[in-house]
Amino acid sequence: MNEIKTLYFESTTSTNDVVRDYDRPWTVAISEEQSRGRGQRGNSWESEKGMNLTLSLLIKPQFLHIQDQFYISEVVSLGVVEALRSVGLTARIKWPNDIYVEDRKICGILIENDISGGGYIKRSVVGIGLNVNQRVFVSDAPNPTSCALELGGDISRKDLLAALYDSIYSLYGALEAGDRATLESRYKSVLYRKGTPARYSDKDGEFTGTILDVLPTGELIVDRSGTQQSYLFKEITFLLP
Ligand code: BTN
Repeated sequence: MNEIKTLYFESTTSTNDVVRDYDRPWTVAISEEQSRGRGQRGNSWESEKGMNLTLSLLIKPQFLHIQDQFYISEVVSLGVVEALRSVGLTARIKWPNDIYVEDRKICGILIENDISGGGYIKRSVVGIGLNVNQRVFVSDAPNPTSCALELGGDISRKDLLAALYDSIYSLYGALEAGDRATLESRYKSVLYRKGTPARYSDKDGEFTGTILDVLPTGELIVDRSGTQQSYLFKEITFLLP
């Protein structure tokens, strides 16, 4: 894909920080290892050297208002799901943008946006940590998995990267063209636990709830004993079965 310029590093702190030094949209920094790989909620990101895909993509969706930033999550998480489908894996999106195979996490996404004075997105750094050929995980991250563990053999990181580029680029094209409804419905069609009662916790404790919907703003709508509750990121925790 000509539009995407890939910069390969043997070792970096965090590819999210590295790609920030570039200006050209569709620049990707990819590294064999990160000394300070970051996850969500201030966690670190475990990735064994040379085994996975740890990369960050710089995009400039300047047509998106900050209140519409969730569409970037939809594009990227659907892109990962599609790329995994190309290697024979059925993955789902755990709201807002974790990628799961059944109840195991195969990919994490960390999106960091810069906002312009007018409230539009100036640039977006999209960090993707996709577990490809790693088989042993040592951190206390809950239920990690990888393509190799799921498929029972190594897969080509190069091919998976090419599939990832294709799918993200084309989904981004749909967003740019204004096809938000299609993105939303595709996102919801692969949403982990949608419509299935499961255990969660929030500030008031543990409960059984059923995910009903995700709003365009990214809020999660959960049914709790007949009452609909909306959650922002970090306000609800999915409890593992
Ligand atoms: C999560 O906690 O689920 C998000 C993990 C994101 C990890 C990726 S690896 C490439 C990029 N660089 C980072 O430091 N983090 C992201």
